[in-house]
Amino acid sequence: MQLALSTSAQVAQYLERSRTIVLPLGSTEQHGPVGLIGTDSLCAQTIAGRLGERTGVLVTPTLAHTVAQFNLGFPGTIAVRASTLLALILDMLHALADQGFERIYCLNGHGANIGVARAAFQDFYLERARMQGARMARCRLRSWWEYPQVDLLRREWYGAHEGLHATPSEIAIAMAAEPAASERARSEGAQHALEAPPALNAAFLRDHGGDNHFDQRTHRGAFPDGRVGSHSLLATREQGEALLAAAVVDAVQDVAAFEAEH
Ligand code: NI
Repeated sequence: MQLALSTSAQVAQYLERSRTIVLPLGSTEQHGPVGLIGTDSLCAQTIAGRLGERTGVLVTPTLAHTVAQFNLGFPGTIAVRASTLLALILDMLHALADQGFERIYCLNGHGANIGVARAAFQDFYLERARMQGARMARCRLRSWWEYPQVDLLRREWYGAHEGLHATPSEIAIAMAAEPAASERARSEGAQHALEAPPALNAAFLRDHGGDNHFDQRTHRGAFPDGRVGSHSLLATREQGEALLAAAVVDAVQDVAAFEAEH
């Protein structure tokens, strides 16, 4: 069930049977020579949308403007400050909790959202506890690549070529979600990206996981075509469909476990 395609009366009825809502988190940033700017948003939105169709859970519009300062050296990237995103998520959590939602599940498609969303959850719990008579809500953040069946597939198919950014798994999901735009991007960009990029070493993975990157100038200098250790061209639309199907199965279980938590 999509929030944007529901009436307020329908949401009130929904709240009589469920107190759970799903908030997809994406980004608007470069994804290498063949990846769409909206890749992260498309991944989170498509998995959340299919989850909503499968279970009937309510899904909000995707939050697409997030933290990506390191990619601002590439045209098309729109980044907001971490403090802006934190304030936005915090305001959204209060609005949803005030209306009676008790389980807020953030389905994430972008590494740099992780730290900010979790910081927002902590401030939310602190502020709710201090507000007289305010209803508490539990929040969870889950990145789609953490889902166990998805993780198995991406390891099996891509191994070290998965890398950290413009990953074949996210490109594959975007191909399944938006085949026409993905095909156009691939045919126009493929000549720049046929080679596998240099593999990332263990120290880089340790220091820069979760998009823990330095400034835009350094980032573009280190990764001039925008891929961070990811061989994007390994992606296929069929793999994207399989990754989506696996993600939805895992998401259904994960949301059910979250609802059962006390
Ligand atoms: Ni991405």
